[in-house]
Amino acid sequence: MSNLKQQVGIKAAEFVKDGMILGLGTGSTAAYFVDEIGRRIQEEGLQITAVTTSSVTYAQAQELGIPLKGIDEVEAVDLTIDGADEVDGSLNGIKGGGGALLMEKIVATNSKDCIWIVDESKVVETLGAFKLPVEVVQYGAENLFRYFENKGYHPSFRQKNNQRYVTDMKNFIIDLDLKKIEDAQSLAAELDTTVGVVEHGLFLNMISKVIVGHEDGPEIIEK
Ligand code: A5P
Repeated sequence: MSNLKQQVGIKAAEFVKDGMILGLGTGSTAAYFVDEIGRRIQEEGLQITAVTTSSVTYAQAQELGIPLKGIDEVEAVDLTIDGADEVDGSLNGIKGGGGALLMEKIVATNSKDCIWIVDESKVVETLGAFKLPVEVVQYGAENLFRYFENKGYHPSFRQKNNQRYVTDMKNFIIDLDLKKIEDAQSLAAELDTTVGVVEHGLFLNMISKVIVGHEDGPEIIEK
């Protein structure tokens, strides 16, 4: 199958079983997975309840007739399937290219299991070529931007339609152009303790497998 995003989206749906509370990721790859879940519900009578990771995925799932609940209405999510912007050999990655990192991380943190679906271009040796999204509160964002500049993190405010992008949670995103993240754990720890940062796109030790799309079929990489 030449559409690698669709290939892994469909493959991931095989991991979904009746009765699950399912986390639905965000992005162009996850959208194929959500479509396939909608198809399985319609054609195979699959019984699941889903929580979504963005307003975009919520709208798609609603359109497909997927039963939905809010994250606070479920005690835990059984399985979340989501895309990623980069993933390394330890199954750590960067997410947030679509701006949904905060809701994605909350759903992932509430999930018993998480699987990522990516085409082969997303697999890297070292994280960082993809700009690291950092979600920040609007208050004080300019000062936080200057702080990142002074640290040499090469920040830029995310834009959409020539305006500063505002997330579903009403925050800004500052993308850090780091090129190579040598120590993701310590960078994550630093960002976790930076006042004004709501969340960052480093997802470390959060997933059990990655389904990677290749021309000759999907590959499953496990922890
Ligand atoms: C959304 O905020 C992101 O984390 C996406 O999951 C990620 O950007 C992958 O998106 P694509 O599947 O569109 O490449």
